[in-house]
Amino acid sequence: MTLHQWAWQLRALAPIAQEKRRALNAANSLTREAGLDRERANRGRVAAPPQPMAARRMRRNGRPLPAWLRGSSPAVLSRLRGAVLVRPGFLSAAEEDTLSRELEPELRRRRYEYDHWDAAIHGFRETEKSRWSQASRAILQRVQAAAFSPGQTLLSSVHVLDLDARGYIKPHVDSVKFCGDTIAGLSLLSTSVMRLVHTQEPGHWLELLLEPGSLYILRDSARYDFSHEILRDEESFFGERRIPRSRRISVICRSLPEGPGPGEPPQPPPAC
Ligand code: OGA
Ligand code: MN
Repeated sequence: MTLHQWAWQLRALAPIAQEKRRALNAANSLTREAGLDRERANRGRVAAPPQPMAARRMRRNGRPLPAWLRGSSPAVLSRLRGAVLVRPGFLSAAEEDTLSRELEPELRRRRYEYDHWDAAIHGFRETEKSRWSQASRAILQRVQAAAFSPGQTLLSSVHVLDLDARGYIKPHVDSVKFCGDTIAGLSLLSTSVMRLVHTQEPGHWLELLLEPGSLYILRDSARYDFSHEILRDEESFFGERRIPRSRRISVICRSLPEGPGPGEPPQPPPAC
């Protein structure tokens, strides 16, 4: 299977009803407009006090939320406890540099794709990489130890996705044919916002703030029952906070799907 075919099949666009999606977007843009108005009103004031953010007030099991997490309700936050994790500063500056330097020449050989209105990703280039320098292998081993249990087998190649400043990822669920129950991603270069929306109940959502050098982990329910997306620059807000998006590279490790059950067709080779 070519990389292109694999990429198409990896991302099944989540079956989110159009109206529900529109309602969600309208609600989000209202919050954003309110945020922008506040920003405008504050401009010119000396040392405006920071606005209390909804995320700060929301608590999970009596504890304030970590700075990287927002959610639609305490219920969805506790439901996904353990299924979603972000570790800001997982990479040192030197490690970020190691990965970017190694990836840049390979990515530069490819062209960004903007083509198809229906594709899950817009403004991107990507590669599947299985040969890494020793320094990068050490980083990927740290990712494996942090995100996967010793019994889990990983896809043998790592997915590298380069979104340009206008690039974004639409809501989708990774195909269960090609990806098991855990997805772990390193973010490089630009901060971005990942939104997770329940595929059946779009009012239930989480947002993750992904800074360069951070590692995110999605597993189990977060991976199967929620779509994930990376917001485009114009929509890139974390609550009221504007998160400008520039070029972003992600390095994504996935577990292999469980073996085929009796009577099911065999799985594709691990490298896909
Ligand atoms: C994907 C995807 C997320 C990321 O390629 O399927 O969801 O962090 N990528 O780039
Ligand atoms: Mn995905």
